[in-house]
Amino acid sequence: MSFHPVEQAPGRLNRSELAVPGSQPQMFEKAAQSDVDVIFLDLEDAVAPDEKLQARKNIIKALNEIDWGKKSMSIRINGLDTHYMYRDVVDIVEQAGERLDLIMIPKVGTAADVYAVDMMVTQIEDAKGYKKRIGFEHIIETALGMQNVTEIAAASKRNESLHFGVADYAASTRARTTIIGGVNPDYSVLTDPAEDGSRDIHWGDMWHYALARMVVAARANGLRPIDGPFGDFSDPEGYKAAAKRAAVLGCEGKWAIHPSQVVLANEVMSPSEGEVDRANRILSAMADAEAAGKGAVSLDGRLIDYASIRQAEVLIEKVKQIAAA
Ligand code: GLV
Ligand code: MG
Repeated sequence: MSFHPVEQAPGRLNRSELAVPGSQPQMFEKAAQSDVDVIFLDLEDAVAPDEKLQARKNIIKALNEIDWGKKSMSIRINGLDTHYMYRDVVDIVEQAGERLDLIMIPKVGTAADVYAVDMMVTQIEDAKGYKKRIGFEHIIETALGMQNVTEIAAASKRNESLHFGVADYAASTRARTTIIGGVNPDYSVLTDPAEDGSRDIHWGDMWHYALARMVVAARANGLRPIDGPFGDFSDPEGYKAAAKRAAVLGCEGKWAIHPSQVVLANEVMSPSEGEVDRANRILSAMADAEAAGKGAVSLDGRLIDYASIRQAEVLIEKVKQIAAA
């Protein structure tokens, strides 16, 4: 390991994160009853300008009055370029800050954006005498945010997670897609002709680079990388495919923009029985190897070593987190 320690953010379960518009209070109870790990009550892009003030009031009331159980509660504030943002923070943290676990900052572009919100939240928490510190979730969803993702990830002790906001990211980078989280058949590889002249088309994942880059910045700073929305809620297979790609790259959760996506996210982002079984067998095989004075052995015909222990331990830790939820 490097001599530079990577401090880990609080071990919060974040397999699924449900977006609930603050302007739709009739959806709050159902969200509270769901199996989701984190809920963000939205003040930003799912709320029309005329409804912003009422949404803020709805959220304050809901945070104080609804039993959200063990769920982590977040609010997505408006962007720092709007005049709504300061009151989102002041009113909600002052009036409902004790039940708020996280603040989601959209379209974060620079480390200074994080600093500004941190300064406000710190003042309010201190003035109110809150004991619990509110964490930050940042949506990386602009070219500027992606360019500065490393500095953003390191900008505050409150930072807990980075989220890939694929819809705004597409808009910001002028990517050719209009479907939220969808792909484009033009991003494909045409194979060389086979003997009979036929050629195959392999679709590519146009979001691979962005997601992978965000995952590295998150993990290098001890934060959770979380994949963002998949807009077509009538396509569970498409959702699961996107969630699996994200999980394979290291993401530990995905947004749900519809309650039906919560169960899919929880399923994909939880280790399977097979994975848990293999992790346990790796740990016991490596314990035997160590007792025999070996650093690497084979299991099922494959090499395992100390890095395998670390991977297995991460997986078992996740299982414990899920059991405790
Ligand atoms: C989320 O906010 C997104 O833009 O995808
Ligand atoms: Mg967005």
